[in-house]
Amino acid sequence: MIDSNQNQNLSSLLKDGTSRVHSEIEGSPFMTSFVGGKLHSSDYALYLRNLQAIYESLESKLEELKNHPNLGRFYIPELFRTKALQLDIEYFNKENHNFRITDATREYLNHLDLIYETNVLFLVSHLYVRYLGDLSGGQMLARILRKQFHLEEGVGDHFYRFDIKDIPGFKKNFREILNSLDLNDSEKQNLVEEAIYAFQLNGNLFLSMV
Ligand code: HEM
Repeated sequence: MIDSNQNQNLSSLLKDGTSRVHSEIEGSPFMTSFVGGKLHSSDYALYLRNLQAIYESLESKLEELKNHPNLGRFYIPELFRTKALQLDIEYFNKENHNFRITDATREYLNHLDLIYETNVLFLVSHLYVRYLGDLSGGQMLARILRKQFHLEEGVGDHFYRFDIKDIPGFKKNFREILNSLDLNDSEKQNLVEEAIYAFQLNGNLFLSMV
């Protein structure tokens, strides 16, 4: 445990602790193609299908954990993405492909199942990485997607559209929930390590798309 982390809140520890892996993932070939407006619609549909498997896993676990003293605080249906992903897959999967779930996605899913059985608190790190990411850089990716595929708002972009009026305010609340967990310094540090791993699992998922 690093002394300088003492008494720091979990949200700042997560942000600082994952900033390096965040930059690495931002520069991955898949994200670079995405940001450059170069993804083919079938690659994008494959990506959505794999993300859907991840969100189904996260959200079915949250459903089970609704009354858990810590995880129950993250039961926030406005965040749920499974249905939004289904709508976008139907839009982009015009040729009705049966998209594969990649080995990297399976590894991610297996890991989520493992922590659900062994250390459910680690799910917090995964919720942070996906949902706060979708509410942050995800909003920029939505603009790129709309431009590239000439999408009207509300068509093919459901994944990025949250029924949330004040996204910055919502992110602030989400951070407050993170900070409200009663954790000691070493538990906080473990959640930072798990968030780094969550970023890596996402990076592997991106690599498996190309
Ligand atoms: C090219 C791709 C990406 C760009 C340009 C990008 C950009 C950004 C930006 C500008 C922020 C700061 C927003 C703010 O402070 O309000 C942010 C935050 C964040 N991003 Fe990304 N991002 C990208 C990809 C990703 C991916 C793939 C993930 C996760 C899988 C992710 C997870 C996060 C998280 C968790 C935060 C919140 C950090 C915090 O405030 O604690 N990002 N991103």
